[in-house]
This record gives sequence, structure tokens and C-alpha cells, in this order.
Amino acid sequence: MSLLEVDDVVVQFGGVTAVNHASFTAEAGRITGLIGPNGAGKTTCFNVISGLQKPTEGKVRFDGKTVNSTPVHRRSKRGMARTFQRLEAFGSLTVRDNVRVALDIHRGLAGLVKPGRADIDALLERVGIAGYAQERADSIPTGTARLLELARCLAGDPKLLLLDEPSSGLDETETDSFGDLLKDLAAEGRGVLMVEHDMDLVMAVCDVIHVLDFGQVIASGLPTAIRSDPLVQKAYLGYSDVEESEMSDETRHDLPAVDVTTEIPVVAGAVGTREAGR
Ligand SMILES: Nc1ncnc2c1ncn2[C@@H]1O[C@H](COP(=O)(O)OP(=O)(O)OP(=O)(O)O)[C@@H](O)[C@H]1O
Ligand SMILES: [Mg+2]
Repeated sequence: MSLLEVDDVVVQFGGVTAVNHASFTAEAGRITGLIGPNGAGKTTCFNVISGLQKPTEGKVRFDGKTVNSTPVHRRSKRGMARTFQRLEAFGSLTVRDNVRVALDIHRGLAGLVKPGRADIDALLERVGIAGYAQERADSIPTGTARLLELARCLAGDPKLLLLDEPSSGLDETETDSFGDLLKDLAAEGRGVLMVEHDMDLVMAVCDVIHVLDFGQVIASGLPTAIRSDPLVQKAYLGYSDVEESEMSDETRHDLPAVDVTTEIPVVAGAVGTREAGR
């Protein structure tokens, strides 16, 4: 049984179908990529999984139980943690105090057992931002703030990490270290589900990738298969190396027209940035 199962989920916002009968899974001990062009429905999927968005249809199962009616805080207590595409740290608190609050909440003993400074600093060390401990969270670089969000997630010792564009704002060296950290976290048995536009990172660390386009899962598989999938190329670029007539029956679908103004290689660089990743 998968750690996370998204089963036939639909999300409609008025006339907009943001997620359209999407089904995919994420496994414990594995890094799963959820990729797709801007507006494909990735963040909406995260909102459904974490409980911020009620699905119009479909189910979310986590750790063996359907969680559709489980509130956000209980999903968190059960071992789900997420970061946000638009950062959600306490800006007026220091980096250290942001993590202190997260530890307080997760231990559920605020006021009785205060988290020790060593526990907090170990988390900051782990994500590589100990040098920013005394800075206010609203004064640190975006990439560092994303790592702060990850440290706050880890304060709850989660089974599943949902990371929404975690590498945006990191430079190349920081992204490499971040990739190593993700592999370590998965090696500890945690499931990682990552929305990410940096295809170099996705291809380097993901065990499996699901591709969303216009709310639908158009491909799922190993990075090597996804890289060469004609439907994926078409979703990102508007065309593929393989002519439609050469596609197998399994891969031939009617794809909606895609408005692509820039030719972006599928693998190298930031794929799917029809506009800059937000
Ligand atoms: N609260 C909302 N109300 C109405 N429409 C929404 C809402 N949230 C998202 N949408 C729409 O749903 C679609 C999917 O949005 P979503 O943010 O999930 O995409 P995404 O794949 O995360 O894109 P990006 O890569 O740009 O972050 C878009 O058309 C978006 O405009
Ligand atoms: Mg998004």
C-alpha cells in the first residue's frame, strides 16, 4: 500500500477545472516528482492532499486511511508536512524562533517542555542554514527561507514531505546540497512528494515522476521514460520529437493546444517556465 494515494481527484473553481480526475501515488522511502507547466494544477493537488482545499470529487488516502474529512492539523499530526510555493514563515521572528515554534507545536507540550536550543540548531544545521539562526525570517534570501520551511517541517518528524518548488531561489551549489538532503530524508524512510520546475534536480533525485497538464496526469514513470515521453515534450514545448502518427495507442491522447512562446529544452534548465516559477 502506498503512503499517499490521490484517487480520481477533481477540483473545480467555478468554470475552471484545476484538477481533472488525477490519480497518483507517493511511496515511503522514495522521492516522487510532480511536474507540469504553470497552471497545471500542482499546487491545487498539494492543497487537496494537505487539507486546505476540499476536492469536488475523489479521495486522498494517507498511511492507509482516507483523510478527506480529516482537518489540516490532524493530517499534520499524522505525519504530513508541507512547504508553500508562496513562503509562509513568521517574518518578524528569527529563523531560530520559527523552528522553535514548530517544535513547540509538534511536541504538543508548549509551556511544559520547551525545545532545547540544541534541538533547534540541529534542525537548522541539517538544512544548512545555521548561519542565519539570529536573522529575522523576513530578511533572509528566498532560497534560505525555503530551507527554513523545510526545517519547520522536519520539526514534526513527518512521514510525508510535500515540497512546493523547494529549490527556487537556491543557486547551483545549494541545489546540489539540497538534492543530497532530499535523498537522505528519503533514505530515512520518509516519502517526499516534490513539485519542482528545475528539471536537472527532478531528473537527478526523483525515483518516479508524475506529469500534470491541464489538471490531468498525462504520464507517470521513471525519469528516463518521462524525459523521452512524447506527450510530456508536447505539454512543455507544444511539439515532440515523435510525430503523433508514431505514438503508440497508449501514449496518443488529444492534448489541448499549449501556448508556448519560448522553446525550452525538456531536460536542461527550468522546464515548464512559460512564465517564471512563482
Ligand atoms: N483559488 C482559486 N480560485 C480560482 N482558480 C484557481 C484557484 N487556485 C488555482 N486556480 C486555478 O487553477 C489552475 C491550477 O492552478 P495551480 O496553482 O494549482 O497550478 P500550478 O500547477 O501549481 O502552477 P504553477 O507552476 O504556476 O505554480 C490555474 O488555472 C489557476 O489559475
Ligand atoms: Mg504552483
